[in-house]
Amino acid sequence: MSANLQALHAKHVLTPWLAQGGLAAPVIVRGEGRYIFDADGTKYFDLGSGLIAVNLGHGHPKVVKAIQEQAATLCYAAPSLFHDKRAELAAELSEISPWKGEGCRTFFTTTGAESNDDAVRIARAITGRQKVLTAYRSFHGSTGTSIMLTGEDRRWGGEPGSPGIMRFFAPYPYRSPFWAETPEDETARAIEHLERTLVHEDPRRVAAILIEPVVGSNGVIVYPEGYLPALRALTEKHGILLIADEVMTGFGRTGAAFGAQRFGVVPDMITFAKGVTSAYLPLGGVMIREKLASNFDAKALPSGHTYSGHPMCVAAGLATVRAYREEGLFDRAKEIEGWLRAGLGEIAKKHRVVGEARGVGAFFALELVKDKATKEPLVPWHGEGPGVMKTLYMELRKRGVYTFGKFNVAMVAPPLTVTKAELDEGLAALDGALGAFEAQL
Ligand SMILES: Cc1ncc(COP(=O)(O)O)c(C=O)c1O
Repeated sequence: MSANLQALHAKHVLTPWLAQGGLAAPVIVRGEGRYIFDADGTKYFDLGSGLIAVNLGHGHPKVVKAIQEQAATLCYAAPSLFHDKRAELAAELSEISPWKGEGCRTFFTTTGAESNDDAVRIARAITGRQKVLTAYRSFHGSTGTSIMLTGEDRRWGGEPGSPGIMRFFAPYPYRSPFWAETPEDETARAIEHLERTLVHEDPRRVAAILIEPVVGSNGVIVYPEGYLPALRALTEKHGILLIADEVMTGFGRTGAAFGAQRFGVVPDMITFAKGVTSAYLPLGGVMIREKLASNFDAKALPSGHTYSGHPMCVAAGLATVRAYREEGLFDRAKEIEGWLRAGLGEIAKKHRVVGEARGVGAFFALELVKDKATKEPLVPWHGEGPGVMKTLYMELRKRGVYTFGKFNVAMVAPPLTVTKAELDEGLAALDGALGAFEAQL
């Protein structure tokens, strides 16, 4: 059964970002809790939470029921009409936001990419400035503006793209772009570099700096302490808006509702998607702090989408956010962090290919190297693709684990509902897969 479906898929579906020849992924037909099942009934532990999105695990009954009930009641209402669940979800988002006392309003979109496009357009409309700065090691989506906000190689296919976006180097403690040897120096030098970049771009022309609070698909890089607060201070000094791209870090991934709260910064806007519905339905948005959102009381908001605040998607979002809150899942990643830090720390010590195991909350990754001393990447960053990393993912699948990664970095980011026993099993499979992988290198 599975072989026929695989052939059908390969013949008719184009898969994102990959050369299409020879693709052969399992055909996933069912999900339950931390597991997904293929057409042959094989079970895989979802160690990457889909694409760092299925924070609740698969098939949460309350979200499934909310979707079913909404489908039976109302599948669509134009965004210009008000809608009950849309209002309630936006109110929940304001409550869990970092803007205590002030609150926020939300402009809903369908994806993370659209959210970043809209956030930038809104920042330009508010400030009257045009330039936007992002980090080189970043992914912000693949639509018109967001592909250019993206710092890494996926941007190249979208170039020359929309103008006005400049990039800078942000901290990367394992491979410091600033030759720093301590986290304090990394932060200080990264801020100095950003200050210099701003001088050359003229800070009075910069509308916003948009940044992932933890770098996601570009290697799960946790910025050293002090970097994000110093970045916030720098943006405030120059009247530049700070936009936190929380598409991956939002909704409990780092051990707080948003990464901004975990790292003690108050941005001006937050973009989100993925975890807001635990990825059950496509929903994204831009949360804008009240003092900025009120800019649009008298003048028109410069964006709109047919699916802005789609009833099915906001109903899923409302049920998801309520489930996170009822089950205490925004905090839970702190507990998972302890398990991951210990388990992956052991794995890093044991395996010669693991250069570093790093992360925060339930958001970790392994960076693989040819040699721990030289840190030469196992496959080159910005090289030709995953190369030998494919063998690692195959070994994982053989042991009933699915995850993904980019170049020499593999994600370890389970759903926030994972139990210690399930995670232990997943980490044992990872340990076994790394052993088998090393034997083939
Ligand atoms: C940090 C970040 N921003 C934006 C996006 C784009 O989101 P989407 O794929 O929903 O457009 C992603 C996707 O992985 C992401 O990780």
